[in-house]
Formats: sequence, C-alpha cells, structure tokens
Amino acid sequence: MPADRLLTRSDVEDARRALAGVVRRTPMEPSRVLSEAVGGPVHLKCENLQRAGSFKIRGAYRRIQRLDDAERARGVVAASAGNHAQGVALAARMLGARATVFMPAGAPLPKLAATRDYGAHVELVDTLDATFPAAQDYADRTGAVLIHPFDHPDVVAGQGTVGLEILEQVPDVATVVVCTGGGGLLAGIATALEGTGVGVVGAQAAGLAAWPASLEAGHPIAATGTTIADGIAVGRPGDLTFALVAARVQEVVTVSEEALARAVLQCLERAKLVVEPAGAAAVAAVAENPRRWPTPIVALVSGGNTDPLVLVDLVRRGMVAAGRYATLHVRVPDRPGYLADLLRRVGDLGGNVVDVAHDRLAGSPGLGPIGIGAVEVTLTLEARGHDHRARMTAALTEAGYAVRAAEGQGL
Ligand SMILES: Cc1ncc(COP(=O)(O)O)c(C=O)c1O
Repeated sequence: MPADRLLTRSDVEDARRALAGVVRRTPMEPSRVLSEAVGGPVHLKCENLQRAGSFKIRGAYRRIQRLDDAERARGVVAASAGNHAQGVALAARMLGARATVFMPAGAPLPKLAATRDYGAHVELVDTLDATFPAAQDYADRTGAVLIHPFDHPDVVAGQGTVGLEILEQVPDVATVVVCTGGGGLLAGIATALEGTGVGVVGAQAAGLAAWPASLEAGHPIAATGTTIADGIAVGRPGDLTFALVAARVQEVVTVSEEALARAVLQCLERAKLVVEPAGAAAVAAVAENPRRWPTPIVALVSGGNTDPLVLVDLVRRGMVAAGRYATLHVRVPDRPGYLADLLRRVGDLGGNVVDVAHDRLAGSPGLGPIGIGAVEVTLTLEARGHDHRARMTAALTEAGYAVRAAEGQGL
C-alpha cells in the first residue's frame, strides 16, 4: 500500500495538537564537538529530557487518547523492557486508564520502579521475548487494549511530533539522524518531514541490525544478535513502520558497540547529558560518518533511562574506546627498584596510574609464560587518547620492557 494511505504529515500534526500541554517541547542544544568534527552545525534534540525520560510518552499518549470510552475502561496492556513501559504507564495514568505491563525479570531496577511509580501493574516474565506473547494473551483474556511499542499509526504519529519540533527549532536543518529499533520513531519523523526536502537517516546498533538487510530485501527480515543499546534491540522491523521507512527514509546506517559507548561518554562529558546507549546511537552515527550528510544536522538523543551502575560501566568502556583508559601488561625483572622505574617512566610520559597488580604465575596471553626471576605488572592507566596510549607503549618497549595492551584496546 502506498505510504500516503498509511500515514501523512497531517496525522502527525493532529497528534501534535493532542499532545499540547502533555509532553515537553524538549531543548535543542548545539554540539561544538560534533560541529567541529563535521565541519558544519550539528544540534542535539534532547528527548532524554522528555517526561518519563524518553520520547515514548508521545506515541503512548496519542494511542491511548484515541481509544473510545469503552476501550479505555477495559484498560491497556503493554510489553517492554523499559521506556515503552514507562511511557504507557504515565500516559495511562494521565488519561485515567488502568495499565498492566509485562516486563522481563532482568529489566533494570530503576525502569521497573519508575513503571510502578507511574501506577502501572507490573507482571514479570522470564525473558524479554516472552513479554509480548504474555501481553497478547492477557489482552485476549481480559479485553485490555494492547499498546504496541511501534507498529501502530497512532504510535508512529505521536513519535513523529518530535520531527515537527525539530523543524521549528532548526528551520534550515538539512539532515535528521534518528536511532531506530522497531522503527516507530524513525517512520514518524520521516512522515513529519515529508515534502520538506530534509534528509532523514536511521541509525541502528550493528550488534542487532535488522533494518539494512530488510531494506535491501524489500520486506522486514528478522535478525538476531545482542547490543548494549537495549532500547533499540528489536529483532524485526514492524510491517507499518517498514512501509513508511522504505518510502521516506534516505538510509539506515549501523554503529559499533564501541562507538555507542564513546557517544554515551561524549554526551555525558561534553554536552552534560545523561543518555542511555540506544539514545546515543544517532550521535555515534554522526561521529563515525562526519562527512556523509549535509549540514545543519540534528542528531536525536532519544532517551536517558539508564541504570547508574550500567552508566559507570559504559563510561569506563567509552573511555577505553576513546583511548582514555589503558590496561598494559608489562614484564619486569623481579628485583628491587624495577617497579619504581616502571612507574617513574609512566609518570614521566604523562600516564596517571589508577591500579597496579602483580602476577608471578599465569601471565597474560601474548607475552608467553612468566620466566623465573620475572614478574608481570598489570597497570591500569588514565591516558589522553589513542595517540598518547600508543606513545606510552612504544616508549616502554624502547626502554626494554615487554609490553602488551589488554584485549580490545586496539594496540
Ligand atoms: C531510548 C530509545 N531510543 C530509540 C528507541 C527506538 O524506537 P522505535 O522502536 O520506535 O524505533 C527506543 C525504543 O524503545 C528507545 O527506548
């Protein structure tokens, strides 16, 4: 069916009117770091600062608001690992509908707690995959209305309202980059921007990327895999979202796990924004493809609901990916003075030692067995970036030490 028969810009405009006074018009922040990298203006649209911490309230509210009184009285049900759960819970409370949400037992505790705080009844099931059939079954048994996370015209129109705000906030925008999972957000924004000449690009985690192969094949294809970006870890595009994206989106690119971690760190450190990995995918795509799209570019930051412990881990990973953290295995003679010499050299090279560990037995792979009279010192260091880390490794090697960077550090 032609995309225009499925959803049009005027549906998104109607959703915008319905959402007035309900959702925040989130800030648009210029990004100096990305603008410099790209050679033209780049802005961040901060939906991580939206109510309930992501854009999801837009689609959930529009969908529930369009139910008739009898449907709303039967309550709503959803399946989600987090952001959709919170969006549905908050929207249902605002509209006076009872909400039941099926969540995986392993969902992040803050997301579980927030969903309950918004007044939803939470049912835990074993895995994320089991949540949707459980919600469907509940809907069949009780008559509650299933609120799909992306594949429904009202949900897509609600998410598309972000696109209308982008046009008002950056009227000369040339490209909008949007992270995508099931495709509701991407399809909605592309619909909002239809006919404006603005290019819309999707960004997906390479670890689980169903969109590029689906677009190539001309129909939705399921993919498997894993990613730290749990918000966009969706195995198959929706049928409606696929038709809209295929007709209206320029391309969907993928980003690596390291690029996602670097983008989370960059948002935190440079833009002072708390962003979850899925929410940083568009930032990662722009950082990885600095000359690919015309500017001004708007990168959508879609959500900020992340467990503080996961954030700590991500920041660490981001620092490793940016060359700012290094773990070096160094062999030194097991004699007094050698450790002090090693630490002095690292200090002279500008490395800040965070941790020192000694090993006389196993050793790290790559440097061979530890001989008698030798010891392996593992240094965890703060560095200033990839070049600095490589210079420290080279200088220690030149000084006669056998040195190896820990796995995954690209040295
Ligand atoms: C933070 C965040 N970003 C992006 C998405 C992707 O949205 P969609 O499934 O509509 O593509 C989600 C979905 O849950 C999300 O939580």
